[in-house]
Amino acid sequence: MGSVVTVLPVQASEPDASELRNLVVQDCGSCHGLRLGGGLGPALRPEELERLSVEAIATIIRHGTPDTAMPPWKDLLSEHEIRWISEKLKSGALLNNDDPR
Ligand code: HEC
Repeated sequence: MGSVVTVLPVQASEPDASELRNLVVQDCGSCHGLRLGGGLGPALRPEELERLSVEAIATIIRHGTPDTAMPPWKDLLSEHEIRWISEKLKSGALLNNDDPR
């Protein structure tokens, strides 16, 4: 853990990576665990998300899961941001960076 240094791609078209990372750690982490290892919600590490495609993850984030605590994020996040988070969850890129900020 923590030995892999991930360089997030920085492109004009990329959403603000550090801002989104903070959102995932703080907002998603409040239910899914600060290291995304699970809490009220299930763990969101690549192992647990293996069965879901990036598109399936994006759909869950966009609309939430009815009748569970998982809220919809489509009013708070753009389509581009939802996609970015889905890809990073799937690849584990958010977990490989030990910088807490
Ligand atoms: C208020 C608590 C809460 C918050 C905040 C929250 N989630 Fe969830 N999430 C859940 C719960 C509970 C589930 C399980 C739903 C179910 O039973 O299918 C879930 C399920 C998921 C799943 C499906 C996981 C799987 O293996 O099926 C994904 C992906 C997910 N959440 C991503 C996110 C992301 C990304 C954020 C932040 C933008 C977030 N969640 C914020 C509670 C939360």
